Amino acid sequence: MPTPARILIADDQADVLEALRLLLKSEGFQIETANSPAGILKALELRDYDVLLMDLNYARDTTSGQEGLDLLARLHSADESLPVVVMTAWGTVNLAVEAMRRGARDFIQKPWDNERLLTILRTQTELGRALRRSTRLEAQNRVLQADGGPALIAEAPAMHPVLQIIARVGPSDANVLITGENGTGKGLVAQALHSVSMRSNRPIVTINAGGVSEGVFESELFGHVKGAFTDAKQDRVGRFELADGSTLFLDEIANVPLSQQQKLLRVLEIGEFERLGSSKTRKADVRLISATNADLNAEVAAGRFRQDLLFRLNTIEIKLPSLRDRREDIPLLAKYFLTMHAHRYRKALTGFDPAALQTLVDHQWPGNVRELDHSIERAVLMAQGNTIRVADLGLRTTSEGGGRLEDMSLEEVEAFLIKKAMARYGNVSHAAKALGLSRSALYRRLERYRL
Ligand SMILES: Nc1ncnc2c1ncn2[C@@H]1O[C@H](COP(=O)(O)OP(=O)(O)OP(=O)(O)O)[C@@H](O)[C@H]1O
Ligand SMILES: [Mg+2]
Repeated sequence: MPTPARILIADDQADVLEALRLLLKSEGFQIETANSPAGILKALELRDYDVLLMDLNYARDTTSGQEGLDLLARLHSADESLPVVVMTAWGTVNLAVEAMRRGARDFIQKPWDNERLLTILRTQTELGRALRRSTRLEAQNRVLQADGGPALIAEAPAMHPVLQIIARVGPSDANVLITGENGTGKGLVAQALHSVSMRSNRPIVTINAGGVSEGVFESELFGHVKGAFTDAKQDRVGRFELADGSTLFLDEIANVPLSQQQKLLRVLEIGEFERLGSSKTRKADVRLISATNADLNAEVAAGRFRQDLLFRLNTIEIKLPSLRDRREDIPLLAKYFLTMHAHRYRKALTGFDPAALQTLVDHQWPGNVRELDHSIERAVLMAQGNTIRVADLGLRTTSEGGGRLEDMSLEEVEAFLIKKAMARYGNVSHAAKALGLSRSALYRRLERYRL
């Protein structure tokens, strides 16, 4: 007989705690309860638990789940091996997904299904115990993964020129400008260029021109000396200097303010710069790779980007195709992300249903590879069988014209309408009413379609 599982349940509603306590006790679990984030922390200090089952909403803020999410991140960094299962309300799938991202192992929607809850708790107890036994192995795996880095998947014809340029120009010191829509893999291509270069024994240095103020950008790029401005308490080396002998990846280059473009041009022309607040001229040997999703020629025409700087940056230009122009790669990418996320979330998934794969291939992917990555992460979390099904993807299965309805099975249409109603009304009662179903009939279908 294995030791009974010890579960800590946390919710600020006394009736919920009581109902769970009764259910779980009768199934042989040992139960303790907490009714606030502080209570959870205190309980965890006192003893070890097999699973923490926690609600995300507490008195301070009862709907957004923010309090629970914050706590989750904290718990996860304190003890990665503690399995946390979160409880969320119906229709808050995004919250559940966010919780999983922050380290929750699984989630259950309220009102919960007893059988499903018991299965989750038993599975997580087992996994958690195994995990704690093998933390050393786990740590090794993490290092291995970090070393390997992500693969560049590119077999579609539209990617051939990209691979050719990487192979031909990568090893040189030529400046390369990478353009493409959001999420097409510009960062990955920059890394690939660097890793085939002579500079690859040093790490690539990245600076992102988006989202930082002008002053911060300048000191990030060139560094500063103590006293250069109010907050400059000590000397600081800039990214340009750090990249000496290596590659500097200047991401979102279109966001570099005009005033900084002049300085950037100078350093690219003669390799010389000064730290902010210093008159000493320094030199650095840097290979520059830049990337943008903007049309730099249009930026030049609008007077927001210097033409002479553009000519410096785009010695070689790599134009990354959007994902919808390289659909041949979708199955490969999908499989790659599936393997990665299934491993990360410890789910035994073997692949996609044919219909699910077709949905992925047909989708427009405005967010490109990143969107595909996120959709599959979400589907991995939602899937309850061995394969990913259409409903797990949460993508529209009809094309914009709506003309694809006749291609769907009756079940798919039903699942589609139910999902739409749940998204629209956010709760079972209203959705059931709108669909002309009883609440229990809707629950049965939600369960059947794994929504
Ligand atoms: N060809 C590919 N093979 C495998 N993974 C890819 C590929 N292209 C992109 N990815 C993955 O997709 C995600 C988005 O890629 P990346 O961040 O490089 O895009 P980006 O073009 O820089 O996007 P943004 O313009 O939004 O910064 C990353 O997780 C990346 O690893
Ligand atoms: Mg990027």
